[in-house]
This record gives sequence, C-alpha cells and structure tokens, in this order.
Amino acid sequence: MTSTIDPPDASGPPPETKLSMGIDPVEKAWMRISIALLVVFAGIITLAGFTMGFEVPGDDGELDPATFLTEEPWASPGLREIAEGEYEAYVIARAWSFEPRELVVPLGAKVTIYVSSPDLQHGFKITDTNINMQVVPGQVSTLTHTFDELGEFPYICNEYCGTAHAQMYGTVTVVASLDEAEDAAADTQADTASEGDGQ
Ligand code: CUA
Repeated sequence: MTSTIDPPDASGPPPETKLSMGIDPVEKAWMRISIALLVVFAGIITLAGFTMGFEVPGDDGELDPATFLTEEPWASPGLREIAEGEYEAYVIARAWSFEPRELVVPLGAKVTIYVSSPDLQHGFKITDTNINMQVVPGQVSTLTHTFDELGEFPYICNEYCGTAHAQMYGTVTVVASLDEAEDAAADTQADTASEGDGQ
C-alpha cells in the first residue's frame, strides 16, 4: 500500500508522511546521536570515578579562601617530611604565581601535594607525571606522586586565569639525596632572601 505517498502538489499542503511525531527524520537521527553521546560521556565519567580515582574534592577538603593563608600549614607552604621517604607539600596557587616556586625532593620521595587558591580558579599540572588538578577557591585539591626519576619537572597553571596566567609556573627538582636536597633548598632560600623579603 503506497497510496498515502502522493506526488508533490504545489497547490496543496506539504506532504506530512515524512514527519514522525512532528519531527523531521534527519533531526530525529541527530537527536538519537546526541542522546547516545550523553550516555557514553556519563558512562566514561562513572567508570573514571569508580576505577581511576577521578573525583572532585569532598567536604573534608573545604576551607575559607579569605582566611586560610593565615592558618597552618598554609601559612608556611612548602615541603615537609612526614615519615621516612614520605612527604607532604602545600602549594598556594594565586593570581599569578605559585608559592613555593620550587619543590626540591629526594629521589624516590612519595609526595602528597595539597593545593588551594585564595582568589581565582587555577590549575596545577606537573609535567611528565599524573599530577593534574583543578584548583578551586574554598577547596583543597590533593594527589600523591612518587618521584622516581632525577631531573626537573616544571609545574604550570593549566586553567586560564587572566593576564599573567602564563607566568604561573614552578619546578619540582628531584635530586639524588636528601643532603643534596637540603643544600639546594638552602640555595633557593638564599636566592629568595637576596631578592628581598617577598611576601
Ligand atoms: Cu592560574 Cu592560569
């Protein structure tokens, strides 16, 4: 039965057989594709969340962006040894610099990095590592990495945050021994001191 398909009649109303539920078939196909993509994306996020540690900071990572810089440990950012071979590093991301600008760690150090921002949203990515975090005012972002390769690993702000976004960078320097690390840290402090009191 094809009697419903009539030749186009310029004088009559447009043929309605092409519409399904009032929707053009091509548009309907694209709607299906869009919905399928949403399902795929939701699936990927769910998978990453449950199996790959992909997550947003929780309630325990909240702080007051207006006051946290006056409170320890944020008042003295930098690297601290918390156990044999284990370290924590507090890093402040603000427009437009990181504090500290250098972290010197011994080879094999397992470092848990905490980052927060008192002003804008920033990013914290350490080159050649899996450390890549969004830095949101009022939240603490944290990831742990074991530095088992000597060298310098620059960190950058990878979320556009304004005029001097490109000036937001620093370096993780991995050295052979803790003594060497302390010497390097002393040099850094001497350099900083010679530049003035800073902040
Ligand atoms: Cu901070 Cu871009």
